[in-house]
Amino acid sequence: MNALDKIAAFSMDYFSLKGKVAIVTGANQGLGMGYAVAFAKAGADLYIPHYTDDVSDVKRLIEAEGRRVAFIKGDLTDRNYIKAVVEGCLKEYGRIDILVNNAGTNHFAPFFDFPGEAYDRVLELQLKSVYFLGHEVAKVMKAQGGGKIINIGSALSYTADRKCPAYVTAKHGVIGITRDFANELGPYNIQCNAICPGFIQTDMNIAVSADKAFYDHITGRIAAGRWGDLDDLMGTAVFLASKASDYLNGADIKVDGGFSCVL
Ligand SMILES: NC(=O)c1ccc[n+]([C@@H]2O[C@H](COP(=O)([O-])OP(=O)(O)OC[C@H]3O[C@@H](n4cnc5c(N)ncnc54)[C@H](O)[C@@H]3O)[C@@H](O)[C@H]2O)c1
Repeated sequence: MNALDKIAAFSMDYFSLKGKVAIVTGANQGLGMGYAVAFAKAGADLYIPHYTDDVSDVKRLIEAEGRRVAFIKGDLTDRNYIKAVVEGCLKEYGRIDILVNNAGTNHFAPFFDFPGEAYDRVLELQLKSVYFLGHEVAKVMKAQGGGKIINIGSALSYTADRKCPAYVTAKHGVIGITRDFANELGPYNIQCNAICPGFIQTDMNIAVSADKAFYDHITGRIAAGRWGDLDDLMGTAVFLASKASDYLNGADIKVDGGFSCVL
């Protein structure tokens, strides 16, 4: 195909996820639910590892799009569960095209009182499970001839906030994992990129965002003049999961309303 033919061949179908199967961890609430429903709207079926019980909202929203969804409950800090997620998805659908490592947690405490167990626990989930689940899924994608891995970073992938050293460490590490996977897996047509959301009100930051002084301080630093909504992230996720992003690998995309470029 010459250059003109390639341009002519481009279509909105490049953004379609028809026939694809996506795993989105922790997608029964918050940002993960947004990614999962966006994928369903783009044509994908979903497999959702969840930690808390209620899956009713995400089930209803995905099925309303005429797509399938199946669930597996467990703790992603457990390596046996990580293997069960991959086996379960293969049993349900026979393939895995997209993985979003979204599940996360945080722990806030003054620096000198920060408990060692909390540091370990946050890193197990926010860093190590990203590596281990990605690693298991990559084996399947390699055998299939390709796939998309999307890791979730943060504004704290680039800078530090006080009282959450484990989260800052993990989210910086997520960028490292993303670049490592891009480098290792690119030859197998697997692209690994990161979305780094800015500030979005979800269960994870309900306590800190209830602090009006903090909320206003952050709002003042967002060029958009507001915190993000769940749907602000959905388009980027579909793009990174689709053929439209096939030449993007190892990137970290800040979806933060301009937070990172305001002094
Ligand atoms: N909300 C924000 O402003 C923001 C900003 C940047 C990055 N993020 C990241 O986005 C991701 C989603 O967070 P959110 O804001 O939607 O918060 P959330 O608390 O609504 O979602 C977190 C999800 O992770 C799951 N989870 C927690 N512990 C788990 C465990 N041990 N095993 C498996 N699943 C577990 C929860 O059940 C939940 O479904 C996280 O990685 C978070 O760090 C959020």
